[in-house]
Formats: sequence, structure tokens, C-alpha cells
Amino acid sequence: MSVIRSTVDSGGPEFAANRDAMLEKLGELEAEQAKAIAGGGQKYVERHRKRGKLLARERIEFLLDEDSPFLELSPLAAWGTGYHVGGSVITGVGTVEGVECMIVANDPTVKGGASNPSSLKKGLRAAEIAHENRLPTINLVESGGADLPTQKEIFIPGGRTFRNLTNASADRIPTIALVFGNSTAGGAYLPGMSDYVVMVKERAKVFLGGPPLVKMATGEESDDESLGGAEMHARTSGLADYLALDEPDAIRLGRGIVKRLNWRKLGPSPKPDYEEPRYDAEDLVGIVPGDLKVPFDPREVIARIVDGSDFDEFKPLYGTSLVTGWADLHGYPVGVLANAQGVLFSEESQKATQFIQLANQTDTPLIFLHNTTGYMVGREYEQGGIIKHGAMMINAVSNSKVPHLSVLMGASYGAGHYGMCGRAYGPRFLYAWPSAKSAVMGPQQLAGVLSIVARAAAGNRGQAYDEDGDKAMRAMVEQQIEAESMPMFLSGMLYDDGIIDPRDTRTVLGLSLSAIHNGPIKGAEGFGVFRM
Ligand code: COA
Repeated sequence: MSVIRSTVDSGGPEFAANRDAMLEKLGELEAEQAKAIAGGGQKYVERHRKRGKLLARERIEFLLDEDSPFLELSPLAAWGTGYHVGGSVITGVGTVEGVECMIVANDPTVKGGASNPSSLKKGLRAAEIAHENRLPTINLVESGGADLPTQKEIFIPGGRTFRNLTNASADRIPTIALVFGNSTAGGAYLPGMSDYVVMVKERAKVFLGGPPLVKMATGEESDDESLGGAEMHARTSGLADYLALDEPDAIRLGRGIVKRLNWRKLGPSPKPDYEEPRYDAEDLVGIVPGDLKVPFDPREVIARIVDGSDFDEFKPLYGTSLVTGWADLHGYPVGVLANAQGVLFSEESQKATQFIQLANQTDTPLIFLHNTTGYMVGREYEQGGIIKHGAMMINAVSNSKVPHLSVLMGASYGAGHYGMCGRAYGPRFLYAWPSAKSAVMGPQQLAGVLSIVARAAAGNRGQAYDEDGDKAMRAMVEQQIEAESMPMFLSGMLYDDGIIDPRDTRTVLGLSLSAIHNGPIKGAEGFGVFRM
């Protein structure tokens, strides 16, 4: 055992200041999450209840195994976009009859559950997660379909929603639709493309066109029930496999379907006996400094998330601004890469490359803990080959086939975000702490670069440089980049799968690893050409 020895002074002033800053951010986060939980607001929630319907979150709660967790994803989707926070759909991984499933539930209290561009992105991300991790999908359907005013942004890309369902089926990953209400037009293909369909009597309405559209198209007089009622689909069209008497019955039937899937996880089981970390997860709110320029030791984080705080560090004396090593997390073996001093040099890049290859040799999932300002710049480093060394690391990350999990603890800037398996590098799940910031570079640096470029351009034109204008421009750009680097903004754009409380990191990573192990875990057989 190599138990990490913590030196965190949880009684000291530094810790207290860090904690205050983190708790303040967590408070802001909670307020935003409350908006998603509140759905479309009191008026729409009350109307929904008066209709004798369950709220989307209640449907999920009843569907899941009693007292089992729900790993909600992207709860702040749409933040900062003008659409309702949450994106009118709830997605997450939950356990039904002991099977981890991707749950996708429309929130009919938000614009009738209609899908806007953020809802679409969120739904597509959920489908990607389900596919990569081999999770059966359960759609809890009640939606007005496309958000009509924004149809141009969703109609064409939205077709992938239905393609994803049938692709999952082809890959023998089951798809189930429980239809609670409206599912018209394109939405009719949600049940249409699913393996199993349950419809609620007198509630589900599934048709390509409702009575007014039919009247317009063919002149035929019709009504909702004969065009797309649950009873009709169960007895006549055959689109419904099961007719539910009411919502709880639909949920019961849905659970019954999952029970009969004969589901088997293909990944190795975790070790049954594992120790909890030796140190209190509560400390995790006091480790990251409010000012990200102040470095912190990521071993203090690792000590609070891995089993028994037991961490076998690899190459501890080499490339010391990146910590690499082996551990278990909830019984699953993992390799950890964590930034220590922020900057990635050639040594760190080569160390990471070797470490990622080793993890692939042993089919070991990798966890990336981000706090990096990127790869080192400057003559000495360029001449030393920082580009090719960084490229080696990015090659290794890109072609690695073991599952990756990323947590943005602090800074995640520049190509460092890429090398540490940022969003575009396909981590199975990516979470951010409220302290995280991500951008092409820091706000001051970015504003400074713009200023230098503008000054040189003015000089080339033979013009005098407007110093006052420059000051104003720098301040404005700094403010803009700062705002765009914040986790809520990035979460709103679906650039992470959720902002998490640092104290929940072990649990969230454990749930993620368990979901990941529905699929096989297999390392890469080869990588691209490593530039030497
Ligand atoms: N696009 C944009 N907004 C929509 C919408 C859609 N597809 N469907 C509903 N809304 C809006 C409504 O305008 C209303 O907004 P408001 O409260 O700000 O006025 C709000 O969502 C609630 O709609 P409402 O009709 O009052 O709710 P309901 O629960 O009684 O009915 C529907 C819900 C979905 C049955 C009904 O709104 C409907 O038929 N919508 C159109 C469905 C459709 O044909 N979609 C085409 C898909 S391609």
C-alpha cells in the first residue's frame, strides 16, 4: 500500500478562504439548478398536476429502483442561452431492476416539452453516452416536438435522434419508450424507432399529423383518439406493445420490460471489498484556491477520491508538474493523470504518453484531473520540441481506447485542455467543479495578445496607437473571456456533463465507472505515428 500522506491544514486560514470561495460558488450553482428543477414554473406545474399527471422528475423517481441514485447529466443545459435552464428535458443514468439505463424525460411544463436547440444537444449527448457505454435507453415521452420558432436549428440535425435509437437497437442496446402524452409529428418516431413501446390510455397521442393537419391535407374529419390514441395503437395499429391504464401502470410495465432484458454487463466486476479514502471528502471544498494562479497539490484530491487513499505513483521524480499513478475507485482499477503546477512541459507530455500507453496495455480506465494553463511556450521549449511532445500526448489521448473520465478542477486552458482529454477528445463523462475555468487561454493573456497584435498592425499602417481605446478594449475582452470561461456558461453550452460539488467527486466517478462497465473495457492495439 502507498497511502498518500495529506498535509492539508483544514484549520488554517488558507483552507478557510478556499472553502468560503468554493461554498459561495456552490450556492450560486444550487440557485441555477433550482431553476431546472422548478420546470416551467408554478403556473405550468399546477396545470400539469390538475390534469392528474406526474411531473417528469416524479416519473423518473418512480421508475428507478427504490433509494437508488440518479446521475443527472447536464442539468444546466441552456444556461445563458435564453432558453429555460435544463433545456426542457431531463437526462441521466439510473438503475431500473438492477440495470443501469439512460433515462431521457421530456419536461412538459416547459413550452409543452418542445425541443429547442439546447434540448436537442442534450438529448444527442445522452444518446452518445448510452451508445458508448452500452446503456439501455428509456424515453419518458411527452413533448410538443420541435420548438417551432427555432425549427431551422433543430429540424435537420434532430433527425439523428431517431437514427440513434435504431442504431442502438442494431447494436443490441435496448430502447424503450413510455409515452405519457403528446408525441406527434417527428416525435412519433420516438416510439416508432424504439424496441418496446408502452402508451398510457387516454393520454398518449401519437400521430404524424393531428386532426387539423389531416383536415388540411386530405379533408378527412378525425379525432385524436382514432388518429393516435393509446387504445388504437395497442389494438389496431400495433405501434403500442403495452397499454397502460395510467402513469404508474406505464412505469410498472417499463420496469417489467427491463427485468426481462436479461441484461449482462460486459466489463469486469469491481473488487468486492474496498476501503473508503482515509481522508474526509469534506476537505475537497478547501483545497482549490479561489485564485487559480495559486497552485495546489492534486495528490490531496486523489487522496480523497481513491480507495484507501492508496496511490501508486508512476515516475514520481520525472515531469513533476503532472502526477500519474494507479489506484482503485469503488473497486475499479484506474490510472490517474493530474496536473500539479499547471504548465505541461516536454517531460510531462512524454510521461503522459507512456502512462496512457501502459493503461491501454492493461485495459485500465483513465481519470484526468485538470488544472493546466497549457503547454509551455518560449524559445527554449520550442527548440526542445514542445510541439511534438505535446502532439505525442494528444496522439495517445486521441487513440487510447480505454474509457476516459475528465474532471475540470481548476484551469483547463489551451491545448492542455486537449492533452488532458477535454470535451473534443471523447471522455466517456466530463465533469467540472465550480472552480473550473476553460478557454483558449486566460482572459488577461488573451486581451494582451489582442492588444499586441493591434498595436503592431497600427504601426504597420503608420498610424498612432489609440492607448485609451486599447485600455477599454482590454478591459472589455477580459470581462468577456472571463464570463465565457466560467463553468455555468460552458455547462450551458453542453461542454461538460455537469458541474459537481467537489465532495461528490468519488461518488460521481464511481457511478460513471459502473455505467461504463456495461460495455467491454479494452485498450488500444495501436496508436498513430508518434513524432520522435
Ligand atoms: N413549439 C414552441 N412552443 C410550443 C410548442 C412547440 N412545438 N408546443 C407548445 N408550445 C408552447 C405554447 O405556445 C405555450 O406557450 P405559452 O404558455 O408561453 O403560451 C406552451 O408551450 C404550453 O403549450 P400549451 O398548448 O398551453 O400546453 P398543453 O399542455 O395544453 O399542450 C401540446 C401541449 C404539445 C399538446 C400543444 O402545445 C401542441 O399541440 N403543440 C404543438 C405540437 C406540434 O404540432 N408540434 C409540431 C412538432 S414537429
